Amino acid sequence: MKIIKVSDYEEMSRKSAKMFYQMIDQQPNIRLGLATGSTPIGFYKYLTEFLQAEETDVSKLLSFNLDEYIGLDPQSPQSFYTFMKEHFYQPLGLNQGQTFIPDGSVSDPDEESKRYEQHIREAGGIDVQLLGVGTNGHIGFNEPGTPFNQRTHQVKLKESTRDANARFFDSKEDVPTHAITMGIGTILDAKKVVLLASGERKADAIYQLVNGEVSEDWPITALKNHPDVTLFVDKDAAAQL
Ligand code: F6R
Repeated sequence: MKIIKVSDYEEMSRKSAKMFYQMIDQQPNIRLGLATGSTPIGFYKYLTEFLQAEETDVSKLLSFNLDEYIGLDPQSPQSFYTFMKEHFYQPLGLNQGQTFIPDGSVSDPDEESKRYEQHIREAGGIDVQLLGVGTNGHIGFNEPGTPFNQRTHQVKLKESTRDANARFFDSKEDVPTHAITMGIGTILDAKKVVLLASGERKADAIYQLVNGEVSEDWPITALKNHPDVTLFVDKDAAAQL
């Protein structure tokens, strides 16, 4: 694992975005795996800026998101689709044939999970997967205890995860109870993984990734089995290293 220690959120965002910018520039038909949440907001801002400044051709890239809530209309303000539209799809003018995210509004989430997994496979797999990490070490919505070989599937969210995400909703009760997520097996199939971690809330998970044993108790430790992981970690998240 390559560990890039940076001073703060801003530097993490800029340096990781520069890395993605260079990969997109070199491989215009790259298949990106993308994440939502607070962590990558700065990353998307810089990546969009770099691509626009260089007038990079983005018409051939494909993007696949990690996860989506079940039971939200894709157009609702809290859906991960809306997040991606605002931070990435619209600023770059990407079209619907390039951008993919599980559809959490379908009547059969298990079927949708299979369809999504199949779609990634048919596209040739993911070249580089961007990840954030939950305070409990989750990646995507793969909570502690998830087998590492799982593919895209439906999950029941842990109360701690619903609490953490309640800030995006009017109240905790409005936070969906279930989601569709790429499995850890799906994530590990990406050729390259880039993980962003900022803030002291992430320090335990980063400690486990770098110094802990591989264990389903900390889903993030699955990345120890991956041959090409780059971690961008700021001072606060690296506090225990
Ligand atoms: C988001 C995702 C989650 C987040 C994690 C950290 O698509 O899959 O695993 O990366 O919950 O969230 P933030 O960045 O809000 O701390």
